Amino acid sequence: MRKLAVIIPAAGSGTRLGSPLPKPFIEIAGKTILEHTISKFLVVREVCEVIVATSKDSIERVNHIFKNCSVDGVDFKVVEGGAERQYSIDNALKKVGEEIDIVAVHDAVRPFISAEIIKEAISRLDSFDGAVVGVPAKDTIKLVDDTHKIKQTPDRTKLWQAQTPQIFRKEILLQAYEHAIKHYYFGTDDSSLVERVGGSIVMVEGGRENLKITFPIDLKVAEMILSGKI
Ligand code: CTP
Ligand code: MG
Repeated sequence: MRKLAVIIPAAGSGTRLGSPLPKPFIEIAGKTILEHTISKFLVVREVCEVIVATSKDSIERVNHIFKNCSVDGVDFKVVEGGAERQYSIDNALKKVGEEIDIVAVHDAVRPFISAEIIKEAISRLDSFDGAVVGVPAKDTIKLVDDTHKIKQTPDRTKLWQAQTPQIFRKEILLQAYEHAIKHYYFGTDDSSLVERVGGSIVMVEGGRENLKITFPIDLKVAEMILSGKI
């Protein structure tokens, strides 16, 4: 059986949400968002390590959450994050154990991922270097210039919105991060870094409920889902 480490970036400042408490530590239905998220991975048999990247101020909060999550056979580690999501993940990658062969990256603030979709993405690594969970674009996407003049309308049937988890063979993810850091390349997701080193990556259809808590409306929806109102 494959051995999987899940890296959970949780070091952001939550500017768009505007909450004084960092997003992963906001409680919904009696548990922090981070704890809801971690619990989705703990029922996946391949998971051997959970590595959370967070700000220096929140390291104790994460250690406290780990006490509620402990599961036999799973190592829990916390590392200090960086100024960009990519740096937070790079710091976590340095802590991935020798015995691990695949690594998943999943945002702390996507608590509605399902174990079934995680398992489906893992299974695709038999044939690909990576698997990205996403959904077909529902809006028409426009490419614009600096003045917002529309330059192009890509064919929507070929456009997907990438979510997380994004799961990769360990070696290629390490290579991709090393390459990106060396060449000062910043991607908005992990897949874009692996694409740049030639990795073959497949899109796995996830669900619309796998929302990223980003704006105040997302937090309201998350509260409604977890309280059973929708
Ligand atoms: N993240 C991180 N390190 C950073 C920035 C972001 O670990 N330097 C994490 C966030 O904590 C979050 C995930 O990356 O779990 C996705 O980022 P996003 O939703 O953009 O969160 P924030 O960066 O916190 O929010 P904002 O962009 O509104 O400031
Ligand atoms: Mg951000």
